[in-house]
Amino acid sequence: MATPIDVVIMAAGKGTRMKSALPKVLHRLGGRALLRHVIECAALLSARKAVVITGHGAAEVEAALNADAPASLGLQFVRQEPQLGTGHAVQQALPQLADDGVTLILSGDVPLTQANTLQALLDLCAGQQLALLTLAMPDPTGYGRIVRENSGGKVLAIVEHKDASEAQRQISEIYSGIMAVPTRLLRTWLRRLDNQNAQGEYYLTDIVKFAVADGLPVLAHQITDAAQVAGVNSPVQLAELERIYQRRNADALMEQGTRLADPARLDVRGQLVCGRDVEIDVNCVFEGHVSLGDGVRIGANCVIANASIAAGAVVHAFTHIDGEQLGVEVGEGALIGPFARLRPGAKLGAEVHIGNFVEVKNSTLAKGAKANHLAYLGDATVGERVNYGAGSITANYDGANKHRTVIEADVHVGSNCVLIAPVTLGAGGTIGGGSTITKDTAPGALSVARGKQVSIANWTRPVKKPR
Ligand code: UD1
Ligand code: MG
Repeated sequence: MATPIDVVIMAAGKGTRMKSALPKVLHRLGGRALLRHVIECAALLSARKAVVITGHGAAEVEAALNADAPASLGLQFVRQEPQLGTGHAVQQALPQLADDGVTLILSGDVPLTQANTLQALLDLCAGQQLALLTLAMPDPTGYGRIVRENSGGKVLAIVEHKDASEAQRQISEIYSGIMAVPTRLLRTWLRRLDNQNAQGEYYLTDIVKFAVADGLPVLAHQITDAAQVAGVNSPVQLAELERIYQRRNADALMEQGTRLADPARLDVRGQLVCGRDVEIDVNCVFEGHVSLGDGVRIGANCVIANASIAAGAVVHAFTHIDGEQLGVEVGEGALIGPFARLRPGAKLGAEVHIGNFVEVKNSTLAKGAKANHLAYLGDATVGERVNYGAGSITANYDGANKHRTVIEADVHVGSNCVLIAPVTLGAGGTIGGGSTITKDTAPGALSVARGKQVSIANWTRPVKKPR
């Protein structure tokens, strides 16, 4: 039987250098809170539970995380008030941890650690030994140093930068802040902590010297990918990690065949799933859950959120799509934009065309329907092959209620029409340009609702009097 894993995530610190009212671990990277990245990684390890230690902004952090915690992971919160150091933080979690497990200690502000790295650390720990994740850094200033018996030899201690001698400060191998430790040993070692050090804090890192004193081996899993252990302390570091995250995401998409005009100019803040032969031009932002079918092309400068775009559809430049909760569906071979706006509940069938400055909200358009210029379709049901003229709108809102407009198959709506809902335009009918339609129209009929044209022959225009 593999030893159960319990994760402890330290997230009580203030994050002073963020200079923000928002608790540090709630700042977003790739559209998700830093702490959520850590929790999702823990869920990938099939951990038994995750205990999050909160302090600064505790209520806000807990509320944000409870809102949509991964179902597979028991999420618990313990508060650390006041914050007396990382050892003191983990002490607060002990009552939630059972002795049969291994405790994996993570930080809520280190978002890019990969599950396979943590798995390797857990394998090294093997349910028995203290295992530290370490890294050699060109500039280790500020970090805890891994002190070894001799170069490359047994680990003896972690010495914090502020407590380190000049000689120890020359050590480039640092402690990442991540360790795996058998819980029953952690419990005994945490009892022995004191705060007799340069910062007057209870250092978690002191347990290393207790392990050594007890004759237990301390193992180090040294990695070379610094991003995986990089913490966020300032807006500059947050932006740096965001770029690394986005680049890794872009590389993963390209590896499975997606063609990006420039991987440095793509931002995915959520999940983007692409079929074969998808092409994405520069400066596109994807949010929430977006899926792009085979052969979809996305033009430059599009923002697309919570939408599903079927095979062969083309979204031209500067299009904004946001499905929010209801979602947006774009059918096979549809042409959208440039400068189109698709809002929640827009469901477009195959080969629909939505052109420039056309807004569609909570409306279904059947196969081959077209609205190519300057139009609004809200709360509408539009049949196959309908042609919806430039400048036409559904007047769907009476100031209190929303009403539906039904446009049956093969209707042609001329330019600049106002369709006052609720109203139904019968199949195959034609609506004369400039009409304000307030009553249902019969199938096949031409309906015109506007002032009759009057022409006065030989009209003489007024002329300016000479001065
Ligand atoms: C810690 C390590 C150091 C390591 C570095 C890696 C200790 C004593 N030192 O130092 O060896 O190189 O991380 O980044 O552990 N926190 C709490 N409660 C507290 C104090 C901190 O929850 O009372 C949380 C912070 O919010 C943060 C994490 O613990 O998420 C690390 O704390 P931080 O103050 O950044 O530790 P460092 O001094 O950087
Ligand atoms: Mg730190």
